[in-house]
Amino acid sequence: MSLLALKDVRMSFGPVEALRGVSFSVAEGEAVALLGDNGAGKSTLMKTITGIYRPTGGAIRFDGQDLKEKDPGEIRRLGIEMIYQDLALAREQDVASNIFLGREPTRRLLGLPIRMIDTARIEAEAETIIRRLGARVPSVRYRVGDLSGGQQQSVAIARALTFSPKLVIMDEPTAALAVREVEHVLDLVRELKRQGIAVILISHRLTDVFAVCDRVIALRQGEVVADEAVAETSMNEVVAHIVGAG
Ligand SMILES: Nc1ncnc2c1ncn2[C@@H]1O[C@H](COP(=O)(O)OP(=O)(O)O)[C@@H](O)[C@H]1O
Ligand SMILES: [Mg+2]
Repeated sequence: MSLLALKDVRMSFGPVEALRGVSFSVAEGEAVALLGDNGAGKSTLMKTITGIYRPTGGAIRFDGQDLKEKDPGEIRRLGIEMIYQDLALAREQDVASNIFLGREPTRRLLGLPIRMIDTARIEAEAETIIRRLGARVPSVRYRVGDLSGGQQQSVAIARALTFSPKLVIMDEPTAALAVREVEHVLDLVRELKRQGIAVILISHRLTDVFAVCDRVIALRQGEVVADEAVAETSMNEVVAHIVGAG
């Protein structure tokens, strides 16, 4: 049974039909690449899944629930985490604070009616999550702005994991990284899969996609033009679909 299933999803912005009947599914623990040229509809599609846009047609089911009437907060609680390209991290704060941003565990101070942020607990829990993920971050006390692009990506993934997601959507996670760091982020995607978490990876880098994904879906002008197992296709074939020559 599939974890996520889209059926004939449509999204129009006035006269612009950004999605013209998109159908596909993602299984538990499966890594799916979403490919397509600029303007193909990738971002719009992800925003309809996460509830930022309400589709103008079709159906989206996730983990047995209809997402149509749900808002972004409800969809997140059902287990979908989206990591945006800008990562939305607080650069001035340390790794541990970023992992719990806005949801810091608190403790009572000597029975007084004041709650203090429980720094020791935040650091301990952040350490555990980073270790579980196998992320290479020097210390949870490091300022996020001082970390490399790949390390910041690790922090964003660690933060997503605190919501116990069943599906993580990543928008171009390797686009701005040094070559040496790309491999590390790909390892993190593999680790999510090992933990049974499904991944949708938006990427222009076909070598990354073929290294970690089980399946590739190509969008062109708001339509799915390819949906194939990585093992049964090739980069040339996928490129032909993306540009419309296949
Ligand atoms: N908020 C919006 N209002 C109007 N048109 C939009 C909006 N968002 C996207 N579009 C249009 O929808 C199409 C798909 O865009 P988008 O989903 O951003 O593509 P991609 O992420 O694949 O580059 C494009 O033609 C784009 O101009
Ligand atoms: Mg986009």
